[in-house]
Amino acid sequence: MLKVLVTREMVDEAMHALEGQCEVDLYTGPPEAMPRDEFLKRANGKDGLLTMLSERVDAELLDAAGPQLKIVANHAVGYDNIDVAECTRRGVLVANTPDVLTEATADLAWALILACVRRIAEGDRFLRTETPWIWGPRMMLGHELYGKTLGIVGYGRIGQATAKRAEGFGMRVIHNSRSGGVPFDTLIAESDVISVHAPLTPETKHLFNADVFTRMKPTAVLVNTARGPLVDEAALARALRAGEIFAAGLDVFEREPQVEKTLLDLDNVTLVPHLGSATVQTRAAMGLFAVENLLNGIAGHRPRALVNP
Ligand code: DGY
Repeated sequence: MLKVLVTREMVDEAMHALEGQCEVDLYTGPPEAMPRDEFLKRANGKDGLLTMLSERVDAELLDAAGPQLKIVANHAVGYDNIDVAECTRRGVLVANTPDVLTEATADLAWALILACVRRIAEGDRFLRTETPWIWGPRMMLGHELYGKTLGIVGYGRIGQATAKRAEGFGMRVIHNSRSGGVPFDTLIAESDVISVHAPLTPETKHLFNADVFTRMKPTAVLVNTARGPLVDEAALARALRAGEIFAAGLDVFEREPQVEKTLLDLDNVTLVPHLGSATVQTRAAMGLFAVENLLNGIAGHRPRALVNP
């Protein structure tokens, strides 16, 4: 039987789909990512790897795995954790799980947008500390979305699904991406809400930095459900503290799973632990898709969602 390594337990449907299909080595260690040395050791001799976004697949790992490795099936749509060029050079297939998480991630972007503009997490924390309060005309004022401008950075599947939801809120939508839309400088100057959906590449690292924050509206909100390193977190914390922008909502982090310490005591930031695709339905679909890609790859067939050029 062909051998595969699964780097974190998936939902039941996906785990069951592997049964009887191949010999599965499942990492069941603590919730942190598999330690690198263990990943290198357990990848050895495997025909396929089913990886999470937290496992780095590079030349060192491919050397450790060995020449029999046929496929790396990522349990994510993003694949910035994988050196695709190196895999391609060695004839290793790379696959991802596009489409099935589009709507769930767009919903989460909106959950953060609403939480930020209406100060939901701050209000929740306020009540939990049992602070004495009474309704008042000046209390905890946020901003309205109706008639405002939503700027989408990265206009792929998830960016477009997020844009579509803005119609219901009566917002104007502008976007910026590699293939078009308005210039980035126009987007950051005109948007009341910016939602980030671009992939992480050397060009997009720290796309949102200290200089950009000074050019956003002081009432603006920034939401990131894409990849943490697109935002310079320390600069974001300084901008939020200085009132250069109104609020931020983060689902992803620069040094995930660590969160920049200077963000933690700010009330105008809403933080969630990378939950974009975390619904029962989507995680089942992602798991089944990743398994399908893996099984096709080890059998020598082309996976449905092939990433290699
Ligand atoms: C992805 O798929 O890339 C998300 O970040 C995790 O669902």
